[in-house]
Amino acid sequence: MTKRNIENMIRNYIKDIVGYDPVKHPDSIKENNTSITEIIKLNGNENPYGTSPKISSSLNNYPIHIYPDPHQNKIRQKLAKHVGADILPSQIIAGAGSDEIIELLLKLFINPQDEIIIPEPTFGMYRFFSAISQAKIINIPRNEQFDVNIDTTIANINDKTKMIFLCSPNNPTGNLISISDTKKILETGIITIIDEAYYEFAGSESSVIKLTTQYDNLIILRTFSKWAGLAALRIGYGIMSQILVNYLLSIKTPYNINIVAENAMLLALEDKNFLMDRIQNIIDERDNFIAELKHISFIKPYPSHANFVLCEFESSTVANKLNLYLQQNGIFIRTYPNQKRLESFLRISIGTSDQMKFLLAKIKEFKHIK
Ligand SMILES: Cc1ncc(COP(=O)(O)O)c(C=O)c1O
Repeated sequence: MTKRNIENMIRNYIKDIVGYDPVKHPDSIKENNTSITEIIKLNGNENPYGTSPKISSSLNNYPIHIYPDPHQNKIRQKLAKHVGADILPSQIIAGAGSDEIIELLLKLFINPQDEIIIPEPTFGMYRFFSAISQAKIINIPRNEQFDVNIDTTIANINDKTKMIFLCSPNNPTGNLISISDTKKILETGIITIIDEAYYEFAGSESSVIKLTTQYDNLIILRTFSKWAGLAALRIGYGIMSQILVNYLLSIKTPYNINIVAENAMLLALEDKNFLMDRIQNIIDERDNFIAELKHISFIKPYPSHANFVLCEFESSTVANKLNLYLQQNGIFIRTYPNQKRLESFLRISIGTSDQMKFLLAKIKEFKHIK
């Protein structure tokens, strides 16, 4: 028998997929910048304070020798109570991060060549998972202020359109989609995914949760990665019709939520007030940061309802130079070298008060040596 080439057996379309461009981990940053001793990591929209001490101190008390509950009963009950708005446990499913829910939804709905509308710029994972599911991606570019072009979006919906991803607050632009615009999209009947990963920073009024009773094509995504500081444990959830939850439960891997993540999530809900106080700190830091940036001539900060600020520069050269200067000082922020529209932009996650003071000082210093 002739020996087969293992790579030739891979499905062709997979070979063309451009992988997601994830943020750099501190270990790899240190490896490539040996002179840097302390890293200020502001490139991943993580929580600069970490999680609640109650969670970190209880991490070694779990029964890690038995499989976790595949039906997520306790998790779903507690989440329903947390979410409110008359949402039932049967309308909730938890995932290993909201990323997993996105992947499961595409598995559930998408046939090759189905169309998925993604108003860009937005969170890169929508495009990544859509490409893997062999969907046709329809990008309806956001307008000057990065709002979704509702009329153009609706005009582009046809028989092949299955789904739309709307992120609110949008990553990386920080703006919200209004409830009335969301309704216009929902009225078209396509599957409408509203990603509320940053909703805790925007306030409950920003959420479209109230619409769940009216629209069975509405799916809301949330996560514990940002507000609760649990990014590494991977826990997020989706809120949708009971029918969809049942399908997703039937196609997910049985033990998708590990016991440590489950318990951390439950403790985060118990310690909600403590964590939400920190969110207020982050919001205050963000508003203060934006106010300070407005006095700096070469930066245009965009308003933000999340835990990051998108900043525009007169050219990609200035943005790149500032990014490099901050890196040399141990500060790592998000750049968009592969997205034409965002080449002269940088996204800065909000850190602790001390980190933001240091960052501002460095930005001001850069101004003098520009
Ligand atoms: C808009 C948005 N949705 C989802 C996620 C992923 O969250 P998780 O950590 O729950 O997978 C992120 C993470 O950056 C995000 O920005």
